[in-house]
Amino acid sequence: MSGQQAPARGEVSVEAFAKINLHLAVGAARPDGFHPLDTVYQAIGLREQVTVRAGAPGVRLSLSAADHVDAGAVPLDDTNIVARAATALAARLGISPAVDIHIDKAIPVAGGMAGGSADGGAALLALHEHWAGGLLPAELAAIAADLGSDVPFTLVGATARGTGRGEIVEPVRDTGEWWWVVVPSAEGLSTPAVYRHFDAMFPDASPEPAAPDALLAAVAAGDPHALAVALHNDLQAPAIDLRPELGELIARGEAAGALRGMVSGSGPTCIFLAASADEARVVADSLRSTHATVLIARAPVPGATVLR
Ligand code: C5P
Repeated sequence: MSGQQAPARGEVSVEAFAKINLHLAVGAARPDGFHPLDTVYQAIGLREQVTVRAGAPGVRLSLSAADHVDAGAVPLDDTNIVARAATALAARLGISPAVDIHIDKAIPVAGGMAGGSADGGAALLALHEHWAGGLLPAELAAIAADLGSDVPFTLVGATARGTGRGEIVEPVRDTGEWWWVVVPSAEGLSTPAVYRHFDAMFPDASPEPAAPDALLAAVAAGDPHALAVALHNDLQAPAIDLRPELGELIARGEAAGALRGMVSGSGPTCIFLAASADEARVVADSLRSTHATVLIARAPVPGATVLR
């Protein structure tokens, strides 16, 4: 890394959103330890905001968070994905960072909704603007992929298919307006732990993850009843095996009128597809009798966006 000072462009804010996986098919672990995925991501309306401004030499992080977010679980040192994003982008641009970065969180921590990844994607975009980086989108996507498997999707947003370890992202046709009820858990689940449990439960998993053909047709048609049938998550069984109460929660949401409930990504957040905004309110009101935090999110929403 060289010591050149960056040409700072002033304060930049970027918003980025949570993801869910409408289809998450997992293959047997690769030699590098990652699992091959065939997934369909969807960005939903739970929002993070990352703001960068010029500061003293180095990278300093600060945090504010919605009531339902466990702010104490977010490290504010150089292990935070936002600090890693700043270091990686500065190295790529050959500059020394001198920035204060504020993260405002509304996505549950370690919830299976890529909240940290959204922060990483937002920070990359904000710092790229702040430093007038001049990189091509594909160059930024390559840095995003090094930060985490689902960081590239946070830049693309909407509805997209992810392959490789999830980092190769292609937008797909989505004509729907979707309503999701989102129920976070008080305590997060470790993504690597859920993948390890998948390996233990399914030692004979195929190396090839299943393709999402029916799901892509349902999303293209904008049909929530078809989508409900096609939703698929290979990490649901290991997540429920680690947290049996998630299975009960899914049954309760479906009994309350959701078209389908499922674990989001590696969990423990559970998501419920509703037929309309009104139906989502009915399901949410019912689940609020037993769960402290029940959110409603519309989808799809865009990828990380600079706020002007
Ligand atoms: O890429 P990311 O840092 O988000 O991955 C976190 C962890 O999740 C990895 O270290 C790995 O244990 C697991 N993972 C996996 N296969 C993937 C994505 C993530 O095993 N495709």
